[in-house]
Amino acid sequence: MKTRNYLNRCGRMSVIILCILFNQLNAKVETMVEKNLYGKLPDGREVYQFTLKNASGTTVKLINYGAIVTSLCVPNRNGVVEDVVLGYDSLQGYINDQSYFGAIVGRYGNRINKGAFVLDGKEYHLTINDGENHLHGGKFGFFKALWDAKVVNDSASPSVAMTYVSPDGEEGYPGNVTITVTYTLTNDNALKIVYEGTTDKPTLLNPTHHSYFNLSGSLTTSILDHKLTIDADSITEIDERLIPTGQLLDVTNTPFDFRTFHTIGERINDNHPQLKYGNGYDHNWVLNSFNGKVRKVVEVYEEKSGRVLEVLTDQPGIQFYSGNFLNGSQKGKRVVYQHRTAFCLEPQCFPDSPNHPNFPSAVLRPGEVYHQTTIYKFSTR
Ligand code: GLA
Repeated sequence: MKTRNYLNRCGRMSVIILCILFNQLNAKVETMVEKNLYGKLPDGREVYQFTLKNASGTTVKLINYGAIVTSLCVPNRNGVVEDVVLGYDSLQGYINDQSYFGAIVGRYGNRINKGAFVLDGKEYHLTINDGENHLHGGKFGFFKALWDAKVVNDSASPSVAMTYVSPDGEEGYPGNVTITVTYTLTNDNALKIVYEGTTDKPTLLNPTHHSYFNLSGSLTTSILDHKLTIDADSITEIDERLIPTGQLLDVTNTPFDFRTFHTIGERINDNHPQLKYGNGYDHNWVLNSFNGKVRKVVEVYEEKSGRVLEVLTDQPGIQFYSGNFLNGSQKGKRVVYQHRTAFCLEPQCFPDSPNHPNFPSAVLRPGEVYHQTTIYKFSTR
């Protein structure tokens, strides 16, 4: 009897050990990066798609055109995995895109007044592509470039590094800039983006990530019910062209105070001049506790799905854009993207900083290394 119990116990132990080994093996298989041909550019260059999977059921798809996140599928509170970013169905959609879906934008994320700035006494003129201003790096910024992509083999989590060499004079910027953006999907459902850049002449470098998020699991529903906090006491005030005036505006008693949770829609139509200029929220929040270290700056919660998005960054500012320019002319993933069906959270240096000595500097000089870490972390509640 005793011997039989002992043998049973041994059997059960072996099954448990085998299960653990199998799970570990499975987890390893599941955390691999897949690489597939995604399409060809009109000049014949090939674009690849990289699929990053973790053991928690999250999948991120990236392409090396624009270093774009094409899909980001994360579980809701019941474990149902759904896509939470807008995107197109094929490469042609991204080639035609004017909204920067999922891309790395730069050299300078956001606007530079009239595309003009002075650096070391010399005046530079950048491509004008937003009214009379320069936006997101110009007509053919980082988001329209073919990046050189490599799977990072020595990483514990699935990871892809993309490098682009932006030539001297591109879109009017001085210096050859080499930028590497490394996307890593961790097992706790965080998409970590690390940027590194160098130059051979003094220049500007202020890239950011431009995913359009909708946490509901449906890319056709409004984002106005999403609840948001931003750890910031002020925004950079803008004029009617969305260019900073140079003044900081205290958020106290304004629709820009997200220091406690508010839905995006609660005050978006208030009669506030800044909301009129932005056509909703399209402003840079001056983030608290800026000391070059990564800290949590934003949390978004979507009640029905239970999804939570936390943004952590080492940057001084974040552009919160409530999808005001989406108007039904953008189509992809078998749906039409309507007004305010997604929002962007773009960590960065302040807009138009070269023309405001009181703003943090986005100047990069030879011998220096530009560095940014931003994390989009998903969970449920
Ligand atoms: C940023 C800008 C917006 C708009 C979008 C893209 O968020 O601040 O004004 O240009 O990008 O449409």
